[in-house]
Amino acid sequence: MSKPLRIGIAGLGTVGAGVVKILAARGEHLAAASGRVLELVAVSARDKSKDRGIDLTGVRWDDDPLALAAADDIDIVVELIGGSEGVARDLVEAALKAGKHVATANKALIAHHGTALARLAEEKGVALNYEAAVAGGIPIVKTMREALAGNEIRSIHGILNGTCNYILTEMETTGRDFADVLKDAQDLGYAEADPTFDVGGIDAAHKLAILASLAFGTQVDFANVHIEGIEKISATDIAFAKEFGFKVKLLAIAEKGEAGIVQRVHPALVPEGTPLAAVSGVYNAVAIDGDRVGHLVLEGRGAGEGPTASAVLSDIVDVARGLIVPPFIVPAAKLKAPAKPLMDEHKSSFYLRLRAVDRAGSMAEITRALAEASISIERIVQRGGKSDESGRMPVVFITHETDEGTMARARTLLAKHEDVAGTPLVIRIEDGELR
Ligand SMILES: NC(=O)c1ccc[n+]([C@@H]2O[C@H](COP(=O)([O-])OP(=O)(O)OC[C@H]3O[C@@H](n4cnc5c(N)ncnc54)[C@H](OP(=O)(O)O)[C@@H]3O)[C@@H](O)[C@H]2O)c1
Repeated sequence: MSKPLRIGIAGLGTVGAGVVKILAARGEHLAAASGRVLELVAVSARDKSKDRGIDLTGVRWDDDPLALAAADDIDIVVELIGGSEGVARDLVEAALKAGKHVATANKALIAHHGTALARLAEEKGVALNYEAAVAGGIPIVKTMREALAGNEIRSIHGILNGTCNYILTEMETTGRDFADVLKDAQDLGYAEADPTFDVGGIDAAHKLAILASLAFGTQVDFANVHIEGIEKISATDIAFAKEFGFKVKLLAIAEKGEAGIVQRVHPALVPEGTPLAAVSGVYNAVAIDGDRVGHLVLEGRGAGEGPTASAVLSDIVDVARGLIVPPFIVPAAKLKAPAKPLMDEHKSSFYLRLRAVDRAGSMAEITRALAEASISIERIVQRGGKSDESGRMPVVFITHETDEGTMARARTLLAKHEDVAGTPLVIRIEDGELR
């Protein structure tokens, strides 16, 4: 058997403690599978006295995580602190510069600095592995790096944030509204005290930017992800969607268009009966369309101690086996600069919900305004023909295919229309690709 692989772990929270537990519970199997003993040499976190439910006997404690990068007795630094800047970034850079392998679950770091870090890792001939950063326990990075090499990827559609999917599923099954369900999700530990990253779509966008780079051989381009969250989705929208045969999901989509690569995260109407519509609760899923393999869907737990630590272990085992590959499949110097996305040219049909003033002729006025804005309507539904307490009627239009720019202009016009109260809500309908 070769020399042990000496591991230093920074961050002993949910994921870090999970990794320590797997190393302890499956040490013998992991050694047999890798041909090397996986030896936990040192750890670092903020509070040494905290009870983490793990046995650290014989493991060195370093108060400063950066000491792991400098230590002579560590081969791989496992960064499980989090955050795109600060100590996590300093540690990963220092470890790579010192010629150590790195495994991380940090999607924010890879989404913001992935290309530069990959360059650094390649210069030093070490691994930068981040399986756990995208969709937790789903082995999507490995699938993209290894199993799909023979394919040109056409598109990726993902449900990449378990918190959002849980909230939308609960809203659907209970008929309750967003704020109410979010509070429950926070009480249950499915949502953070500050839920902005999750419900605002940023967490999904981090993961999407990484996937898009793997899929299309482009530099990681988080800055150009179009991001909308689920905060404006109401129980009414979910009920209307159901009536039309759709579920509402927060989708993360990367696709190759004529103009370039479009990366977008937003709520979408997904046809019932399709694999992504069936993904419920905290589950994640990624649907890939490859030119040879066709449609492929991977589903699993996107977060939590076990699934995330499981993914980190696969990264460590790869290093132990000597499998060191460019972090984004092709060498960083060969990653293409991403073309500016032309979201305005993206086309789809839309769900448009507004509150109309309840007076004779208002519907005719609104429909005329839409026609003048070049929006062609497939369907109109007025819920029961009844107005709410403020004398407004919820009305939903399903449009024929149109482009984003046209839809945005129509929405602005409607927001100013005297027969419309407030700004209409628009949700894209994702149909063709998903069937
Ligand atoms: N949780 C998940 O389900 C999940 C899923 C996928 C990816 N991830 C990613 O995995 C990473 C870790 O997440 P987590 O949920 O395990 O976080 P967590 O539970 O908050 O744990 C963070 C750990 O980092 C330590 N830490 C924070 N600041 C530090 C500093 N300045 N110096 C040294 N240690 C520091 C903390 O120390 P103390 O314990 O002493 O406070 C804690 O042990 C993040 O990048 C996250 O995005 C998490």
